[in-house]
Amino acid sequence: MILELENICKNYGHGQVEVPALTDVNLQVEAGEYLAIMGPSGSGKSTLMNILGCLDRATSGTYILEGENISELSDRQLSNVRLNKIGFVFQTFQLLPQETALENVALPLIYAGVPRHERLERAAEALRKVGLDDRKEFLPTQLSGGQKQRVAIARAMINEPTILLADEPTGALDQASGAQVMELFRTINAEGATVIMITHDANVASNARRMVTIVDGRLYDDAAKANEEAARAREAAAKTAEETEKPAEEATKPVEITARPMEEAAKLAEEAAKLAEEAAKLTEAIAIPAEAESVGPQVVDAGEPAMPETAEGGERA
Ligand SMILES: Nc1ncnc2c1ncn2[C@@H]1O[C@H](COP(=O)(O)OP(=O)(O)O)[C@@H](O)[C@H]1O
Ligand SMILES: [Mg+2]
Repeated sequence: MILELENICKNYGHGQVEVPALTDVNLQVEAGEYLAIMGPSGSGKSTLMNILGCLDRATSGTYILEGENISELSDRQLSNVRLNKIGFVFQTFQLLPQETALENVALPLIYAGVPRHERLERAAEALRKVGLDDRKEFLPTQLSGGQKQRVAIARAMINEPTILLADEPTGALDQASGAQVMELFRTINAEGATVIMITHDANVASNARRMVTIVDGRLYDDAAKANEEAARAREAAAKTAEETEKPAEEATKPVEITARPMEEAAKLAEEAAKLAEEAAKLTEAIAIPAEAESVGPQVVDAGEPAMPETAEGGERA
């Protein structure tokens, strides 16, 4: 096993305004896995990625990475773990704008104490592997989104980390560039790295070989539980809609769960969150045009017999 989370909780803020972002998260990942962590916006995905990547600490719980208890390490030890074991890929690439693609990729090797000549050589090789041999001297502003992300992937892999962690890696990309990034991840995984990808997109997640779902700060390893949770979220959304005193048909519409329960569950969770949002909007919408509702139909009745579009020409002749 390459990593294990046990009862991880993360609260933001402190005292009375404490917000739980993760609650009792348990997760075990084997070396060489390709895992997608899926969930709607605000469910705690980035918080979880920050903890997995040793960028942040859990409020409570235990994180074991390659046999080492991460929770007990000093900040300095944590940054060493990041440098040696983890490659990061972010939605917005996070490249240094003043540096060339080559320098960006070589950057982690500075911290690793690799001499300049070797750094540049290895960076050039890494860029070649992501198909950017001819873009070494380009600045990020001179690259497309997909190219920037491939530079970021080359940088993430330059230290040969055991884990590649990606947070919405295709979130800012068009379909074709996204597909290229997914292809690279497959290759990286096939070459032995453990890949953990965070996404809200079921299509993107389906590239992984295993999927877990996060809903409201809780992680579900099994489809049935995630389904249950999604159903609960849906009910809550429906209830919110009811409370507007005008039932939102959308919110109560049953959604059929069929062939691919994992994907469906995550989609449902996202759907439910959206419905809750819509229900809130509905409350607002209903509150405002109270008089418009009673006037509206009369205006229509008083109107002329329907002969629309006649102005456009004699098609109706
Ligand atoms: N730095 C922070 N301070 C306070 N609350 C935060 C912070 N980061 C995230 N949160 C809250 O934690 C929850 C999970 O956020 P996040 O992990 O960013 O979700 P996701 O990546 O799934 O969209 C949200 O309710 C968010 O508002
Ligand atoms: Mg996020």
